[in-house]
Amino acid sequence: MSQTPKRVRVHHLREAKTRGERLTMLTAYDAVTARIFDDAGVDMMLVGDSIGNTMHGHATTLPVTVDDLIPPARAVARARQRAFVVVDLPFGSYEAGAEQALGTAVRMMKETGVDAVKLEGGRRVVPQIRALTDAGIPVVGHLGYTPQSENLFGGPRVQGRGDVAAERLSEDAVAIVEAGAVAVVLEMVPAPLAARITEIVAVPTIGIGAGAQCDGQVLVWVDMAGMTDWSPRFAKRFGEVGAALRSAAAAYVDEVRGGTFPDAAHQFDA
Ligand code: KIV
Repeated sequence: MSQTPKRVRVHHLREAKTRGERLTMLTAYDAVTARIFDDAGVDMMLVGDSIGNTMHGHATTLPVTVDDLIPPARAVARARQRAFVVVDLPFGSYEAGAEQALGTAVRMMKETGVDAVKLEGGRRVVPQIRALTDAGIPVVGHLGYTPQSENLFGGPRVQGRGDVAAERLSEDAVAIVEAGAVAVVLEMVPAPLAARITEIVAVPTIGIGAGAQCDGQVLVWVDMAGMTDWSPRFAKRFGEVGAALRSAAAAYVDEVRGGTFPDAAHQFDA
């Protein structure tokens, strides 16, 4: 978003789409990185359930709970000055219906100070999106490869290939936007389909592995910054922060072992 409001609010998302300004989103799970990303001008931060794989050592997002997400969401919301902060509703916290979703989302909003919640799914979550929207809670949708359904998909696979699947995904997008979604994440969707969905919905699409025609892009920050040896094909490494951190830690180890740290500049006189 090149026209920069002091604080990004829900109406700025749609205005950015209308003006053709691309939105930027990164995941964040703590105050330190949230401050850095906010300062760098990131428009939206997602306290994603990807915290399960990236920070908590799980193989998938499925074990992540509401209690796991509340402290990081609170930290990110406190640290931001400008960015719009979204927290995921984790697996098992909203699928049962509107009442369950509302209970979870109200708790998230009350206890964290985020601006919106995100949940995965198409027509099956329309009642949930409508109930949250009616209660004044902005909802970001998530379509395509939805990691909470990874067992059903058989792992991270592109979704929406072929006419039938593409039509189904487009209809899901229209349905969740009609129900009130303020933005839609499209994950691992063929670029031409993501472009078509971007054209037919009035709210911003935020792509991850969904091509350049989406209204915005999101990446998991550890992928974006090159924190790990492997990153998914769609996730460009914009830095090699993992290597930089490793060499800083190794230099620290060397200096402590060699007795050169702390030196006079880093200790106190009597
Ligand atoms: O949890 C997450 O980080 C996400 C992104 C992959 C969009 O949902």
